[in-house]
Amino acid sequence: MQWRNTSARYGLVSVVLHWLVALAVFGLFALGFWMVGLSYYDPWRQSAPDLHKSIGILLFAVMLLRVLWRLLNPAPAALSNHGPLTRLASKLGHGVLYFGLFGVMISGYLISTADGRGIEVFGLFSVPATLTGIAQQEDIAGAIHEYLAWGLVIFAGLHGLAALKHHFIDRDSTLLRMFGR
Ligand code: HEM
Repeated sequence: MQWRNTSARYGLVSVVLHWLVALAVFGLFALGFWMVGLSYYDPWRQSAPDLHKSIGILLFAVMLLRVLWRLLNPAPAALSNHGPLTRLASKLGHGVLYFGLFGVMISGYLISTADGRGIEVFGLFSVPATLTGIAQQEDIAGAIHEYLAWGLVIFAGLHGLAALKHHFIDRDSTLLRMFGR
C-alpha cells in the first residue's frame, strides 16, 4: 500500500489518520459523557478530565497534520457511479466533519483555559491559555462544546451509515478505499 493518495485510492497516511481520528472522537465522547456524571468522591474525578483534555490536545495536533496532509494530497476522485448529488453531499459532509472537529476541540480548549491556567498534556508539556476573561467563558464554551460534540458524533454516525450503504447496498468501493483497497 502506498503512502500517498492516488487519483483512485487513499494512501496509508490518510487511512491511518482517518481511523485514528474516528476512534479518538468516539472514545472522547464516551469518556466525556461518563466523566461528567462522576461523583465528587470518585477516584476518576480528577484523572478522567485530565485524560480527556490530554487526548483532545493530541487530537488537535493530529488534525493539523491531517489538514496539512490533505492539502498536499488531494483525495481520490469520486467513483464513477456517484452522481452529482452524491458528490456534493460527500464534499459538504466531509467539510462539516472537519469544521465540527475543530469546533469541538477549540471550545474544549476555551473551557479548560477560561481561568487562565494552561492544559497539562499527560504531564509532559503544557499548552498555555491564550483567550481568557470573556464573561461566562466557561459556561458558554461548555454549552457550545456539548452541543457540537453531540452534533459531531451523530453526524459521524450518519457518515458511517452512508459508507455502509455504499458498501452493502450500492456494492461500490467507497468503504474499501478508506482501508486503502
Ligand atoms: C468520528 C468519526 C469520523 C470522522 C470524524 C470521519 C471523518 C471523515 C472525513 C473528514 C472524511 C473525508 C476524508 C478526506 O478526503 O479528507 C472521511 C471519509 C470517509 N469516511 Fe469517515 N469519519 C468518521 C467515521 C467513519 C466511519 C465510522 C466510517 C465507516 C463505517 C467512515 C467511512 C469513511 C469513508 C468510506 C470515507 C471515504 C469517502 C470517500 O471516498 O468519498 N468514517 N471521513
